[in-house]
Amino acid sequence: MKKFPEGFVWGTATSSHQIEGAWLEGGKGLSIWDAFAHTPGKIADGNTGDIACDHYHRYKEDIVLMASMGLTAYRFSIAWPRIQPLGRGTPNPEGIRFYSDLIDTLLDHGITPWVTLYHWDLPLALQFELDGWLNPETARCFHDYAEICFEHFGDRVKHWITFNEPWVVAFLGHGMGIFAPGRRSNEEPYRVAHTLLRAHGLAADTYHRRFQPGQGGTIGMTCNCDWREPLTDSPEDIEAAQRALEFFLGWFADPLYRGEYPEVMRRRVGERLPVFTPDDVALIKGSNDFFGLNHYTTMYASHAAPGNEGDGSPFDSAGIAADQGVHLSADPAWEQTHMEWSIVPWGIRKLLAWIHDRYGAPEIIVTENGCALDDRPVDGVVHDPQRIAFLKAYLGECYEAMQQGIKLRGYFLWSFMDNFEWSSGFSRRFGILYTDYATGKRIPKTSAEWYQKLVRNNGF
Ligand code: GAL
Repeated sequence: MKKFPEGFVWGTATSSHQIEGAWLEGGKGLSIWDAFAHTPGKIADGNTGDIACDHYHRYKEDIVLMASMGLTAYRFSIAWPRIQPLGRGTPNPEGIRFYSDLIDTLLDHGITPWVTLYHWDLPLALQFELDGWLNPETARCFHDYAEICFEHFGDRVKHWITFNEPWVVAFLGHGMGIFAPGRRSNEEPYRVAHTLLRAHGLAADTYHRRFQPGQGGTIGMTCNCDWREPLTDSPEDIEAAQRALEFFLGWFADPLYRGEYPEVMRRRVGERLPVFTPDDVALIKGSNDFFGLNHYTTMYASHAAPGNEGDGSPFDSAGIAADQGVHLSADPAWEQTHMEWSIVPWGIRKLLAWIHDRYGAPEIIVTENGCALDDRPVDGVVHDPQRIAFLKAYLGECYEAMQQGIKLRGYFLWSFMDNFEWSSGFSRRFGILYTDYATGKRIPKTSAEWYQKLVRNNGF
C-alpha cells in the first residue's frame, strides 16, 4: 500500500468554458473561446461550449455527486466575462452570485475550493479593444478583475491560481494559432507571455499585501510541462532535452523563481524576447506561494540542426518552435491515450525532480493529470480500467518522488467529468464521470469508484 502523508490534497479539476455552458446567460459577456469555437473549422467535431455540461444550471447536483464520491477538494475556474462582461468596470452581480453560491455549496459539502482566475476565457471585448494579451494594459485589467474576486470570495477561498498554463495561451494561442485567439506568429508569444507574467505579478502582489494578512490564503501560477527525455546519450541530445524544458517550463518558472528568462532563451530568441524592468522583477520573482503543475505526457528530444526544421507540427522544430531547435518523437512501444499522448509514468517523477532542483525545492501541487480514453457506456456502465492503470502508474511515480524528498502536497485529477476539450470538442473524454451530452446525464465510471477509495484511504 502506498500511503500518502496526512493532509495530502486529493481533488479533481475542471474549467469554466469546458463545463459551464450558459454562454449567454447570467449577464455573461462573450469570451475569446466563444468566438473561436463559433468560427467554422476551429473545433474538430464542429461543436461549441455553448451548453457543454450545463454545469451552470446543474452545479448543485454536480457538487452533491462530488461529495458522494468522497472528494474533498475541487479546482474550478471563474469565467472573467461572468464577473466583468466587457473585461473592465463594475462587476456583474449575477456573476458574483453564481460563484459565491458555488463556493458556499462546496463548503457545505466539505469540499475545499481551489480557484483558477484565468483558464483561457478572456472577455472578447478586451481582444477587440486592446488586442488582448498583446497589450501590456491587459495585465492591469486582469489585476483589477482578480482584486474583485479576492474581495468577494477571499473570505472563503484560500487557494488561488492566477493563470492556467500560460504556455498554452502564448504558444498554442499566439504561435500555432490552434487555440483562441488563433494567431500565428513567432514574435507575439513572447510578448503575450511577458504580459501574463506581469499580470500574475500584479495580482499576486495585491493579494500578498492587501488580502493574505486577513484572509490567510495562498496564490500561485499553474504551468504545464511535458517531460523531455534525451533521445540518445549524445551531449547534443542531452542539451536539446534540457533546452526544450527551459523553453517550455523555464519560460515561466524561471522569472517566477529566478527573476529572469532562461539564458538559452535570451540567447536564441534575441530581441523578440522582452526584458523585465527592475519593477517587474520585484513583482514577479518570489511571487509563487506554491508551484502548480499540469503534466500529461513525455517525448524524446533530439537536437534539430538549423535548416532541418520538419513539417510545422507542434512536435517539430518549425514556426515558433524553431527557436528551441529540438525534434520531438515518441517511442512506438509506448501506449497512447485517445489524445495520442504517450503514457510514460516515469516522466512525471523526472519532471518533479527537475523542478525541485532548479527552483529550490518548492511545494508542488499537481493541478492536473489524467488521460482521455474512448469511453462508452455498456448496459449503463462505463468501464475504464486503462484510466485506473494510468492513475496507479502516475501516482506511483509521484509517491516515489515524495520518498526522495520532493515536496508534492496535492494532486488534482483531470477531470471531474467529460467536458468540452477545446479544439477537440466533445470527442475526447477525460472525466471520471461520463457525460451524456444528449441528456446531460452523468454516469460515474469505474475509475470514479477507484478514486473514491484512494481518497478515503489516502493511498492505494
Ligand atoms: C490542459 C488544460 C485543460 C484540459 C487538459 C486536457 O492543458 O488545462 O483545460 O483540457 O489539458 O487536454
